[in-house]
Amino acid sequence: MGLAQRTARGYHRGVQDQRIIRMGLAGLGLAHELNSPLTATALALELLIERIGAEAVPPAELTAELGRILANVQRMTALVRHLRAFARGDRSAVGPVALDTVADAALRLARPAAEVLGEATLERGDADPAAIVQADPLLLEQALLCVLVNAVEAGASAVRVDVHAAGIEVLDDGPGFQGHTPAAGHSTKATGLGIGLSLVRAITEDAGGRLEVGDRPTGGGSTRLIFGA
Ligand SMILES: Nc1ncnc2c1ncn2[C@@H]1O[C@H](COP(=O)(O)OP(=O)(O)OP(=O)(O)O)[C@@H](O)[C@H]1O
Ligand SMILES: [Mg+2]
Repeated sequence: MGLAQRTARGYHRGVQDQRIIRMGLAGLGLAHELNSPLTATALALELLIERIGAEAVPPAELTAELGRILANVQRMTALVRHLRAFARGDRSAVGPVALDTVADAALRLARPAAEVLGEATLERGDADPAAIVQADPLLLEQALLCVLVNAVEAGASAVRVDVHAAGIEVLDDGPGFQGHTPAAGHSTKATGLGIGLSLVRAITEDAGGRLEVGDRPTGGGSTRLIFGA
């Protein structure tokens, strides 16, 4: 076999490996991202069934509650679809996304989880309406949600999200990363898989950015999704 053929074969194997890594990450990402919304949805349905059994729930309240549950199920369905597209390298959901919108959406999603996990305060800091990137908005929101959940799980009591021209920065007052960038599959939590940050990194890189974690000079952690200089 000539060198050109061998190189082509090697290249093909490389492409194939990348594809398998992407598929694995998307699958693990699904298990990671669906876990809490599925638990929350099951709990909301259980409570509703219990309530219907115990009292006459006014139809308007019933409709509103079922509407909230449906919206959560629809988000989960969309996540499955978008992560499958991510696995295939299909970029049809990619378009211009305002980072301010991503920050607002992720904070809205994270607040109920933050209350359950540690009563942390999640705050929206600096905004920059001109900060726009090419991304899949649903996946970028989900990535930022992972970062917020990590900060709360690390024990932070205050978490802030800033949007700048350069990207999104999440600052927390937890223990910080202590000079290390966690490796894929590395978790310090009893039930953690160490997937969250790998997924965040892959989604950020797909949007043309990079992920950087570090320690704040005043203590606490910083997780940055950097798209600009
Ligand atoms: N804001 C943070 N402050 C301090 N440590 C953090 C922070 N974010 C992440 N880490 C560290 O990085 C590790 C890896 O995070 P990652 O999200 O990849 O996995 P995980 O949260 O442990 O598990 P999971 O797969 O469920 O997300 C965490 O176990 C934790 O030790
Ligand atoms: Mg995590």
